[in-house]
Amino acid sequence: MELKQIKRLEKNARNALRNSYGPYSRFRVGCALLAASGNLYTGCNIENASYGLTICAERVALFNAISHGEREFNAIAIVSEKDRAYPCGACLQVMSEFAPDLVIIIFDNKHKIKVVKLKELLPKAFVIKNKKHKQ
Ligand code: THU
Repeated sequence: MELKQIKRLEKNARNALRNSYGPYSRFRVGCALLAASGNLYTGCNIENASYGLTICAERVALFNAISHGEREFNAIAIVSEKDRAYPCGACLQVMSEFAPDLVIIIFDNKHKIKVVKLKELLPKAFVIKNKKHKQ
């Protein structure tokens, strides 16, 4: 992936992080998801007083994109204020539904990056082969 594209992803993810709602963990996360169309979709984590209802930045970005009609994705950038945030298992499973070959770019707060593939983090995702509606 081009450096320019990585910078674009980082910038958008950092902007999304500013909207993070994380008063309970104070662990703020922002994401930018690159669709095959070239469009970017962002997300941030949104926590809740009923802790388990919290949603991660990755799923917010993905659902944002899906609700805009996107179905294929190339890469996601993830930034957090504290340590590097590798996506949780729930987000990996949900992202693998649409993008089993997704490239995941994880930034620390000093602009250093780690690049991994979704398949490395979740080699055996749960899949149902004969989907009735492929939309
Ligand atoms: N979180 C994310 O949004 N993405 C990750 O990759 C890791 C964790 C959020 C969920 C929760 O609001 C906070 O970070 C602490 O777990």
